[in-house]
Amino acid sequence: WAHSHNPSTRPPLSSVTREDVEHFSKILPSSAVLSTLASETASQAELEPYNTDWIGRYHGKSTTVLKPQTTKQVSEIMRYCYERGIGVVPQGGNTGLVGGSVPLKDELVVNLGNMSKVRSFDPVSGALVADAGCVLEVLSEYIAPHGHIMPLDLGAKGSCMIGGNVATNAGGLRLLRYGSLHGSVLGLEVVLPDGTILDGLSTLRKDNTGYDLKQLFIGAEGTLGIITGVSILTPPAPRATNNVLLALPSFDNVLPLFKKARQQLSEILSAFEFVDRTAYNLAVKHGQGKAMSEEEAEGAECFILLETSGGDGKHDEEKLTALLEDLMGADEPLITTGVISQSPAQFASLWRLREGVTEAVSKEGKAYKYDISIPLASFKEVVDTTREHLRKLGLLREDAVKHVLGYGHVGDSNLHLNICAASYSPEIETALEPFVYELTASYNGSISAEHGLGAMKAHAIHYSKGGVAVDLMKKLKNVIDPKGIMNPGKVLE
Ligand code: FAD
Ligand code: MLT
Ligand code: ZN
Repeated sequence: WAHSHNPSTRPPLSSVTREDVEHFSKILPSSAVLSTLASETASQAELEPYNTDWIGRYHGKSTTVLKPQTTKQVSEIMRYCYERGIGVVPQGGNTGLVGGSVPLKDELVVNLGNMSKVRSFDPVSGALVADAGCVLEVLSEYIAPHGHIMPLDLGAKGSCMIGGNVATNAGGLRLLRYGSLHGSVLGLEVVLPDGTILDGLSTLRKDNTGYDLKQLFIGAEGTLGIITGVSILTPPAPRATNNVLLALPSFDNVLPLFKKARQQLSEILSAFEFVDRTAYNLAVKHGQGKAMSEEEAEGAECFILLETSGGDGKHDEEKLTALLEDLMGADEPLITTGVISQSPAQFASLWRLREGVTEAVSKEGKAYKYDISIPLASFKEVVDTTREHLRKLGLLREDAVKHVLGYGHVGDSNLHLNICAASYSPEIETALEPFVYELTASYNGSISAEHGLGAMKAHAIHYSKGGVAVDLMKKLKNVIDPKGIMNPGKVLE
């Protein structure tokens, strides 16, 4: 470790200059260099989408965005930035929710959107090798005719890119069935901070030759290198899928319902997602899918979207129907009603209601998003405690905090606690932090279940990780990125 630099002794990062842009223009075609420094390549307004994150909370001041098409170009960019000490922000679809994908100052943005080719697909093993800039939904469409699906799915599928998914170790709606990317990613091609290409695009299922280096880059949020290629195992598409939206009279019914659904549906249960009353109302208000009538939803404290996937439609339907009959027929029914999808359109519409909560919250106001792992039984308690805390501070009002809501992935014990405010304000932020982190730590939870730390939570890592772990992370970072040019200020302060 002796040769690694301590962050405090590192020289400051360099700003991109006009000369740098001229150099980049020798590596890339002119259409791939967007800069306010060289005349007429881009205006500040054109750079705005690359400088602002999806929820509109983080704003960078980058003067230059590069959009390479090949790994070699990324390597040449990085070699140059390493020599000059220029900070680099890797960017995919810019759908990240923790401010990781935009610069904090004027770092160079390397956007992977022009690296969007599928390199190979093996329809027997399901191994897909793709450029990092392939959009998740495009990959799903590419493998669908071969009878395969991507092992992950999320509301941002139309814009997020596979490199960004791997960099954030995105969880999403299929984790319950197919596990995390730490299991399904077979190999990665990564350009290291000094421009070296780590060519690890293996398609092998098993490979125990030494340290599994790819795991370091899965979830590193662009702080260790730029992922340029991804090899990923795609499962066969299930022959039949069904979904049902269930209305529950009380949150207390969620756990027994989950237990019952797992017991009765066993291997065909593929998703079990939670939406509380406030989240449901916002999704309906902002047109995110048609689910049930107002009368049907009346009296429900929360909702569960349950999906089954299996190999035999008739068998799966019978199992699901039997579960619903059991639920409704019980002396003390766990649900008040349920809507089972009858068509592909209704299937999509029920999913839209759950996936669309994120968009609905953003339409309603400014979102403070906390993505926490806590025991399932505490989901409601955490939402209620946070709301009460804000109420006591007098912040629960239309011009401050409009709503406190919860939704998320029951199957993974992952709650999305959202505070929807009229605007971002220091007063609300101070009321929420460290309150939410301390509350999460009191349950021995994680302050980032699936979105990462990014810029938002880099300072708060110690709420979920011990000193020894953080110290080792810093040492690893210093070995791989001794000048600290990769996504500065993210993950580790
Ligand atoms: P970006 O936002 O561009 O980047 C995210 C981070 O990865 C940044 O730190 C960036 O520097 C880094 N990065 C990006 N590309 C690379 C690369 N090629 N090499 C190295 N680093 C890179 N997340 C979940 O886990 N589960 C969900 O269910 C989920 N649902 C979402 C729904 C919506 C509507 C939205 C807007 C977001 C959701 N997210 C979810 C957040 C999630 O992190 C992103 O959607 C996605 O994984 C990020 O991909 P991206 O291409 O947009 O990456
Ligand atoms: C989700 O599960 O909907 C996503 O993680 C996005 C969010 O938290 O809003
Ligand atoms: Zn989520």
